[in-house]
Amino acid sequence: MSSNFAPLKNDTFIKALLRQETEYTPLWLMRQAGRYLPEYRATRKDAGSFMSLAKNPDFATEVTLQPIDRFGLDAAILFSDILTVPDAMGLGLYFEEGEGPKFERSLKDEKDVHALKVPEAGSLQYVFDAVTKIRTALDGRVPLIGFAGSPWTLACYMVEGRGSRDFHTVKTMMYKRPDLMDHILRTNADAIASYLNAQIDAGAQAVMIFDSWGGALADGAYQRFSLSYMKDIVSKLQKEKDGVRIPAIVFTKGGGLWLDQIADIGADAVGLDWTVNLGKARAQVGHKVALQGNLDPAVLFADPDQVRQQAINALEAYGKPAANYGHVFNLGHGISQFTPIESVSTLVETVHEHSRKMRQPSA
Ligand code: CP3
Repeated sequence: MSSNFAPLKNDTFIKALLRQETEYTPLWLMRQAGRYLPEYRATRKDAGSFMSLAKNPDFATEVTLQPIDRFGLDAAILFSDILTVPDAMGLGLYFEEGEGPKFERSLKDEKDVHALKVPEAGSLQYVFDAVTKIRTALDGRVPLIGFAGSPWTLACYMVEGRGSRDFHTVKTMMYKRPDLMDHILRTNADAIASYLNAQIDAGAQAVMIFDSWGGALADGAYQRFSLSYMKDIVSKLQKEKDGVRIPAIVFTKGGGLWLDQIADIGADAVGLDWTVNLGKARAQVGHKVALQGNLDPAVLFADPDQVRQQAINALEAYGKPAANYGHVFNLGHGISQFTPIESVSTLVETVHEHSRKMRQPSA
Protein backbone atom coordinates (compact mmCIF):
# COMPACT_ATOMS: atom_id res chain seq x y z
CA MET A 1 0.00 0.00 0.00
CA SER A 2 1.55 3.31 -1.02
CA SER A 3 0.29 6.46 0.65
CA ASN A 4 -0.74 9.78 -0.76
CA PHE A 5 -0.48 12.10 2.21
CA ALA A 6 0.71 15.72 2.31
CA PRO A 7 4.43 16.19 3.03
CA LEU A 8 5.32 16.81 6.69
CA LYS A 9 5.79 20.53 7.46
CA ASN A 10 6.86 20.17 11.10
CA ASP A 11 9.14 17.14 11.48
CA THR A 12 10.80 18.31 14.74
CA PHE A 13 9.27 15.46 16.75
CA ILE A 14 10.42 12.73 14.32
CA LYS A 15 13.89 14.26 14.11
CA ALA A 16 14.25 14.40 17.90
CA LEU A 17 13.20 10.73 18.16
CA LEU A 18 15.93 9.87 15.67
CA ARG A 19 18.39 12.05 17.62
CA GLN A 20 18.88 14.45 14.71
CA GLU A 21 19.43 18.18 15.15
CA THR A 22 16.33 20.34 15.74
CA GLU A 23 15.80 24.10 16.16
CA TYR A 24 13.96 23.59 19.42
CA THR A 25 12.75 20.77 21.71
CA PRO A 26 9.44 19.36 20.41
CA LEU A 27 6.62 18.58 22.81
CA TRP A 28 3.32 16.79 23.02
CA LEU A 29 1.36 15.66 26.09
CA MET A 30 0.15 12.20 26.98
CA ARG A 31 -3.69 12.29 26.95
CA GLN A 32 -3.58 15.68 25.21
CA ALA A 33 -7.05 15.10 23.73
CA GLY A 34 -9.35 14.79 26.71
CA ARG A 35 -11.64 16.13 29.36
CA TYR A 36 -9.57 19.16 30.42
CA LEU A 37 -10.60 20.70 27.04
CA PRO A 38 -14.11 22.22 26.87
CA GLU A 39 -14.28 21.40 23.14
CA TYR A 40 -13.58 17.71 23.95
CA ARG A 41 -16.38 17.67 26.54
CA ALA A 42 -18.74 19.18 23.93
CA THR A 43 -17.87 16.57 21.27
CA ARG A 44 -18.11 13.76 23.82
CA LYS A 45 -21.58 14.97 24.74
CA ASP A 46 -22.61 14.87 21.05
CA ALA A 47 -21.17 11.36 20.72
CA GLY A 48 -22.96 10.18 23.87
CA SER A 49 -20.11 8.12 25.33
CA PHE A 50 -16.37 7.61 25.20
CA MET A 51 -16.73 4.41 23.15
CA SER A 52 -18.99 5.98 20.53
CA LEU A 53 -16.45 8.79 20.28
CA ALA A 54 -13.55 6.36 19.81
CA LYS A 55 -15.42 4.08 17.38
CA ASN A 56 -16.47 6.87 15.03
CA PRO A 57 -13.57 8.05 12.79
CA ASP A 58 -15.15 11.50 12.25
CA PHE A 59 -15.42 12.17 15.99
CA ALA A 60 -11.97 10.63 16.61
CA THR A 61 -10.49 12.98 14.00
CA GLU A 62 -12.21 16.00 15.49
CA VAL A 63 -10.94 15.39 19.03
CA THR A 64 -7.42 14.41 17.91
CA LEU A 65 -7.07 17.79 16.21
CA GLN A 66 -8.51 19.86 19.08
CA PRO A 67 -5.27 20.21 21.11
CA ILE A 68 -3.28 20.71 17.88
CA ASP A 69 -5.53 23.62 16.89
CA ARG A 70 -5.49 25.17 20.37
CA PHE A 71 -1.79 24.84 21.31
CA GLY A 72 1.27 24.66 19.05
CA LEU A 73 2.03 21.02 19.90
CA ASP A 74 4.55 19.14 17.75
CA ALA A 75 2.72 15.82 17.38
CA ALA A 76 -0.83 14.50 17.29
CA ILE A 77 -1.79 11.19 18.91
CA LEU A 78 -4.54 8.96 17.60
CA PHE A 79 -7.66 9.32 19.70
CA SER A 80 -8.48 5.81 20.89
CA ASP A 81 -7.70 3.67 23.92
CA ILE A 82 -5.31 0.84 24.74
CA LEU A 83 -8.29 -1.34 25.72
CA THR A 84 -9.76 -1.51 22.18
CA VAL A 85 -7.58 -4.59 21.57
CA PRO A 86 -8.99 -6.79 24.39
CA ASP A 87 -12.42 -5.42 23.43
CA ALA A 88 -11.86 -6.80 19.91
CA MET A 89 -10.83 -10.13 21.52
CA GLY A 90 -14.40 -10.32 22.78
CA LEU A 91 -14.02 -9.17 26.40
CA GLY A 92 -16.65 -6.43 26.13
CA LEU A 93 -15.16 -3.07 27.17
CA TYR A 94 -17.48 -0.58 28.84
CA PHE A 95 -17.22 2.58 30.90
CA GLU A 96 -19.47 3.56 33.76
CA GLU A 97 -19.90 7.27 34.39
CA GLY A 98 -17.32 8.47 36.90
CA GLU A 99 -15.53 5.10 36.96
CA GLY A 100 -12.66 3.65 34.96
CA PRO A 101 -12.86 1.03 32.21
CA LYS A 102 -14.33 -2.41 32.86
CA PHE A 103 -14.70 -5.71 31.00
CA GLU A 104 -17.90 -7.76 30.90
CA ARG A 105 -15.88 -10.97 30.61
CA SER A 106 -12.55 -11.10 32.46
CA LEU A 107 -10.09 -14.01 32.14
CA LYS A 108 -10.79 -16.07 35.25
CA ASP A 109 -9.59 -19.59 34.54
CA GLU A 110 -7.76 -21.89 32.15
CA LYS A 111 -10.80 -22.19 29.89
CA ASP A 112 -11.08 -18.38 29.46
CA VAL A 113 -7.35 -18.06 28.80
CA HIS A 114 -7.22 -20.84 26.22
CA ALA A 115 -10.20 -19.37 24.37
CA LEU A 116 -8.27 -16.11 23.85
CA LYS A 117 -7.35 -15.34 20.24
CA VAL A 118 -5.68 -12.57 18.24
CA PRO A 119 -8.63 -10.48 16.98
CA GLU A 120 -9.50 -10.50 13.28
CA ALA A 121 -8.11 -7.37 11.61
CA GLY A 122 -11.64 -6.30 10.62
CA SER A 123 -12.73 -5.91 14.23
CA LEU A 124 -10.34 -2.97 14.65
CA GLN A 125 -10.92 -1.46 11.20
CA TYR A 126 -12.51 1.62 12.82
CA VAL A 127 -9.13 2.44 14.39
CA PHE A 128 -7.26 2.15 11.08
CA ASP A 129 -9.95 4.25 9.37
CA ALA A 130 -9.51 6.90 12.08
CA VAL A 131 -5.71 6.87 11.54
CA THR A 132 -6.09 7.52 7.81
CA LYS A 133 -8.71 10.19 8.35
CA ILE A 134 -6.64 12.00 11.00
CA ARG A 135 -3.45 11.86 8.92
CA THR A 136 -5.37 13.33 5.97
CA ALA A 137 -6.97 16.05 8.13
CA LEU A 138 -3.59 16.97 9.64
CA ASP A 139 -2.45 17.80 6.12
CA GLY A 140 1.22 17.48 7.14
CA ARG A 141 1.02 20.01 10.01
CA VAL A 142 2.54 17.61 12.55
CA PRO A 143 3.20 13.85 12.61
CA LEU A 144 0.61 11.37 13.87
CA ILE A 145 1.49 8.92 16.66
CA GLY A 146 -0.19 5.51 16.73
CA PHE A 147 -0.20 3.49 19.96
CA ALA A 148 -1.06 0.33 21.85
CA GLY A 149 -0.89 -0.89 25.44
CA SER A 150 1.86 -3.33 26.45
CA PRO A 151 0.97 -7.04 26.72
CA TRP A 152 1.37 -6.90 30.51
CA THR A 153 -0.69 -3.71 30.98
CA LEU A 154 -3.51 -5.16 28.87
CA ALA A 155 -3.30 -8.43 30.84
CA CYS A 156 -3.80 -6.43 34.08
CA TYR A 157 -7.19 -5.19 32.84
CA MET A 158 -8.10 -8.49 31.16
CA VAL A 159 -7.53 -10.59 34.31
CA GLU A 160 -8.66 -8.04 36.93
CA GLY A 161 -11.63 -7.09 34.73
CA ARG A 162 -11.01 -3.45 35.64
CA GLY A 163 -8.33 -1.14 37.03
CA SER A 164 -6.64 -2.23 40.27
CA ARG A 165 -4.54 -0.81 43.09
CA ASP A 166 -2.58 -3.91 44.07
CA PHE A 167 -3.01 -6.18 41.00
CA HIS A 168 -3.79 -9.06 43.33
CA THR A 169 -5.63 -11.28 40.82
CA VAL A 170 -3.29 -10.82 37.88
CA LYS A 171 -0.14 -11.24 40.02
CA THR A 172 -1.59 -14.37 41.61
CA MET A 173 -2.06 -15.86 38.15
CA MET A 174 1.44 -14.78 37.14
CA TYR A 175 3.11 -16.55 40.10
CA LYS A 176 0.76 -19.52 40.37
CA ARG A 177 0.17 -20.27 36.70
CA PRO A 178 2.97 -18.66 34.66
CA ASP A 179 1.91 -20.92 31.77
CA LEU A 180 -1.49 -19.22 31.61
CA MET A 181 0.08 -15.78 31.97
CA ASP A 182 2.49 -16.55 29.12
CA HIS A 183 -0.41 -17.64 26.95
CA ILE A 184 -2.18 -14.31 27.53
CA LEU A 185 1.00 -12.27 27.00
CA ARG A 186 1.94 -14.24 23.84
CA THR A 187 -1.53 -13.65 22.37
CA ASN A 188 -1.44 -9.96 23.33
CA ALA A 189 2.03 -9.48 21.87
CA ASP A 190 1.00 -11.05 18.54
CA ALA A 191 -2.17 -8.95 18.48
CA ILE A 192 -0.32 -5.72 19.32
CA ALA A 193 2.44 -6.24 16.73
CA SER A 194 -0.15 -6.66 13.94
CA TYR A 195 -2.27 -3.84 15.34
CA LEU A 196 0.65 -1.36 15.34
CA ASN A 197 1.81 -2.47 11.89
CA ALA A 198 -1.73 -1.93 10.57
CA GLN A 199 -1.72 1.57 12.13
CA ILE A 200 1.57 2.25 10.30
CA ASP A 201 0.01 1.01 7.04
CA ALA A 202 -2.96 3.30 7.66
CA GLY A 203 -0.73 6.36 8.18
CA ALA A 204 0.81 6.45 11.69
CA GLN A 205 4.25 8.15 11.53
CA ALA A 206 5.55 6.97 14.92
CA VAL A 207 4.25 4.39 17.39
CA MET A 208 4.26 4.19 21.17
CA ILE A 209 3.72 1.28 23.57
CA PHE A 210 2.15 2.28 26.91
CA ASP A 211 3.28 -0.02 29.72
CA SER A 212 1.36 1.82 32.42
CA TRP A 213 1.56 -0.99 34.98
CA GLY A 214 5.01 -2.53 34.33
CA GLY A 215 6.24 -0.53 37.34
CA ALA A 216 3.99 -2.61 39.62
CA LEU A 217 6.15 -5.68 38.97
CA ALA A 218 9.08 -6.99 41.00
CA ASP A 219 12.57 -6.84 39.55
CA GLY A 220 12.92 -10.04 37.55
CA ALA A 221 9.18 -10.35 36.99
CA TYR A 222 9.26 -7.07 35.04
CA GLN A 223 11.93 -8.35 32.64
CA ARG A 224 10.25 -11.75 32.29
CA PHE A 225 6.56 -10.74 32.00
CA SER A 226 6.62 -7.23 30.55
CA LEU A 227 9.90 -6.18 28.94
CA SER A 228 10.57 -9.39 26.98
CA TYR A 229 7.17 -9.20 25.29
CA MET A 230 7.66 -5.54 24.40
CA LYS A 231 11.03 -6.47 22.90
CA ASP A 232 9.32 -9.09 20.78
CA ILE A 233 6.79 -6.52 19.52
CA VAL A 234 9.49 -3.94 18.72
CA SER A 235 11.41 -6.56 16.69
CA LYS A 236 8.28 -7.19 14.58
CA LEU A 237 7.42 -3.54 13.83
CA GLN A 238 7.87 -2.07 10.37
CA LYS A 239 10.87 0.22 10.69
CA GLU A 240 10.05 2.15 7.50
CA LYS A 241 7.03 3.06 5.44
CA ASP A 242 7.46 4.32 1.86
CA GLY A 243 11.16 4.86 2.59
CA VAL A 244 10.50 6.98 5.72
CA ARG A 245 11.60 5.82 9.21
CA ILE A 246 8.80 5.07 11.68
CA PRO A 247 10.28 5.53 15.17
CA ALA A 248 9.05 3.42 18.10
CA ILE A 249 8.73 4.69 21.71
CA VAL A 250 8.34 2.45 24.79
CA PHE A 251 7.10 3.83 28.10
CA THR A 252 7.03 1.87 31.35
CA LYS A 253 5.61 4.05 34.09
CA GLY A 254 7.77 3.44 37.16
CA GLY A 255 10.45 1.84 34.98
CA GLY A 256 13.29 4.23 35.89
CA LEU A 257 15.32 1.58 37.72
CA TRP A 258 15.34 -0.59 34.58
CA LEU A 259 16.27 2.19 32.15
CA ASP A 260 19.42 0.42 30.87
CA GLN A 261 17.48 -2.70 30.02
CA ILE A 262 14.56 -0.82 28.47
CA ALA A 263 16.97 1.17 26.31
CA ASP A 264 18.33 -2.15 24.98
CA ILE A 265 15.17 -3.63 23.44
CA GLY A 266 15.58 -1.91 20.07
CA ALA A 267 13.14 1.01 20.38
CA ASP A 268 14.17 4.47 19.15
CA ALA A 269 13.02 6.25 22.29
CA VAL A 270 12.14 5.59 25.93
CA GLY A 271 9.45 7.49 27.82
CA LEU A 272 10.26 8.52 31.41
CA ASP A 273 8.04 9.41 34.35
CA TRP A 274 8.85 12.24 36.78
CA THR A 275 10.79 10.10 39.27
CA VAL A 276 13.78 10.13 36.92
CA ASN A 277 16.42 12.85 36.56
CA LEU A 278 16.62 13.63 32.84
CA GLY A 279 20.34 14.49 32.85
CA LYS A 280 21.29 11.28 34.66
CA ALA A 281 19.05 9.27 32.34
CA ARG A 282 20.71 10.84 29.32
CA ALA A 283 24.19 10.04 30.64
CA GLN A 284 23.06 6.50 31.39
CA VAL A 285 21.67 5.64 27.93
CA GLY A 286 24.30 7.55 25.94
CA HIS A 287 23.47 7.52 22.25
CA LYS A 288 21.35 4.40 22.29
CA VAL A 289 17.91 6.03 22.38
CA ALA A 290 16.09 9.35 22.54
CA LEU A 291 14.24 10.17 25.78
CA GLN A 292 10.70 11.47 26.19
CA GLY A 293 9.37 13.18 29.28
CA ASN A 294 9.05 13.92 32.10
CA LEU A 295 7.30 16.84 33.86
CA ASP A 296 5.04 15.90 36.78
CA PRO A 297 1.49 16.60 35.48
CA ALA A 298 0.73 18.12 38.91
CA VAL A 299 3.06 21.05 38.07
CA LEU A 300 0.26 22.32 35.81
CA PHE A 301 -1.85 23.11 38.90
CA ALA A 302 0.66 25.73 40.09
CA ASP A 303 0.84 29.40 39.03
CA PRO A 304 2.17 30.38 35.55
CA ASP A 305 5.57 31.50 36.91
CA GLN A 306 6.01 28.17 38.63
CA VAL A 307 4.93 26.22 35.52
CA ARG A 308 7.48 28.22 33.54
CA GLN A 309 10.26 27.59 36.07
CA GLN A 310 9.57 23.84 36.32
CA ALA A 311 9.56 23.50 32.52
CA ILE A 312 12.88 25.35 32.30
CA ASN A 313 14.31 23.13 35.06
CA ALA A 314 13.38 20.00 33.11
CA LEU A 315 14.91 21.34 29.87
CA GLU A 316 18.10 22.36 31.68
CA ALA A 317 18.26 19.03 33.52
CA TYR A 318 18.37 17.22 30.18
CA GLY A 319 21.47 19.27 29.37
CA LYS A 320 23.02 21.32 26.59
CA PRO A 321 21.91 20.58 23.03
CA ALA A 322 24.64 18.63 21.23
CA ALA A 323 25.01 15.91 18.61
CA ASN A 324 22.56 13.03 19.17
CA TYR A 325 20.55 15.21 21.61
CA GLY A 326 17.23 13.36 21.31
CA HIS A 327 14.87 15.04 23.78
CA VAL A 328 11.11 15.05 23.28
CA PHE A 329 9.40 17.06 26.01
CA ASN A 330 6.31 15.48 27.57
CA LEU A 331 4.64 14.96 30.91
CA GLY A 332 5.67 12.00 33.06
CA HIS A 333 2.14 10.58 32.71
CA GLY A 334 -1.23 11.63 31.29
CA ILE A 335 -2.55 15.15 31.79
CA SER A 336 -5.24 15.42 34.49
CA GLN A 337 -8.82 16.23 33.51
CA PHE A 338 -8.76 19.12 36.02
CA THR A 339 -5.76 20.90 34.43
CA PRO A 340 -6.25 24.65 33.77
CA ILE A 341 -5.90 25.26 30.03
CA GLU A 342 -3.73 28.36 30.61
CA SER A 343 -1.06 26.15 32.17
CA VAL A 344 -0.81 24.14 28.97
CA SER A 345 -0.37 27.31 26.87
CA THR A 346 2.33 28.51 29.29
CA LEU A 347 4.08 25.14 29.11
CA VAL A 348 4.10 24.97 25.30
CA GLU A 349 5.34 28.55 24.97
CA THR A 350 8.07 28.07 27.58
CA VAL A 351 9.40 24.81 26.15
CA HIS A 352 9.59 26.24 22.63
CA GLU A 353 11.11 29.58 23.68
CA HIS A 354 13.60 28.34 26.22
CA SER A 355 14.79 25.39 24.13
CA ARG A 356 15.47 27.77 21.20
CA LYS A 357 17.51 29.95 23.57
CA MET A 358 19.49 26.90 24.71
CA ARG A 359 20.52 26.37 21.08
CA GLN A 360 21.95 29.87 20.61
CA PRO A 361 25.77 29.88 20.45
CA SER A 362 25.98 32.26 23.44
CA ALA A 363 23.79 30.06 25.67
O1 CP3 B 1 -3.20 10.74 24.60
C1 CP3 B 1 -4.23 10.97 23.92
O2 CP3 B 1 -4.73 12.11 23.84
C2 CP3 B 1 -4.80 9.83 23.10
C3 CP3 B 1 -5.84 9.06 23.67
C4 CP3 B 1 -5.62 8.05 24.78
C5 CP3 B 1 -6.69 7.70 25.65
N1 CP3 B 1 -6.28 6.67 26.43
C6 CP3 B 1 -8.02 8.35 25.64
C7 CP3 B 1 -8.89 8.20 26.81
C8 CP3 B 1 -4.53 7.23 25.11
C9 CP3 B 1 -3.14 7.23 24.54
C10 CP3 B 1 -4.98 6.36 26.16
C11 CP3 B 1 -4.12 5.31 26.75
C12 CP3 B 1 -4.58 4.59 27.94
N2 CP3 B 1 -5.84 4.20 28.27
C13 CP3 B 1 -3.71 4.08 28.93
C14 CP3 B 1 -2.21 4.19 28.89
C15 CP3 B 1 -1.71 5.49 29.33
C16 CP3 B 1 -1.86 5.76 30.78
O3 CP3 B 1 -2.61 6.68 31.12
O4 CP3 B 1 -1.21 5.05 31.58
C17 CP3 B 1 -4.50 3.42 29.90
C18 CP3 B 1 -4.00 2.75 31.17
C19 CP3 B 1 -5.85 3.48 29.46
C20 CP3 B 1 -7.04 2.87 30.10
C21 CP3 B 1 -8.05 3.89 30.40
N3 CP3 B 1 -8.87 4.50 29.48
C22 CP3 B 1 -8.39 4.40 31.67
C23 CP3 B 1 -7.72 3.99 32.98
C24 CP3 B 1 -9.42 5.32 31.48
C25 CP3 B 1 -10.20 6.03 32.54
C26 CP3 B 1 -9.38 7.06 33.21
C27 CP3 B 1 -9.90 8.40 32.85
O5 CP3 B 1 -9.09 9.29 32.59
O6 CP3 B 1 -11.14 8.53 32.86
C28 CP3 B 1 -9.67 5.42 30.09
C29 CP3 B 1 -10.65 6.32 29.43
C30 CP3 B 1 -10.07 7.32 28.50
N4 CP3 B 1 -9.16 7.06 27.51
C31 CP3 B 1 -10.41 8.71 28.43
C32 CP3 B 1 -9.68 9.26 27.38
C33 CP3 B 1 -9.73 10.67 26.87
C34 CP3 B 1 -11.45 9.42 29.29
C35 CP3 B 1 -12.78 9.01 28.78
C36 CP3 B 1 -13.85 10.03 28.93
O7 CP3 B 1 -13.99 10.92 28.06
O8 CP3 B 1 -14.58 9.89 29.90
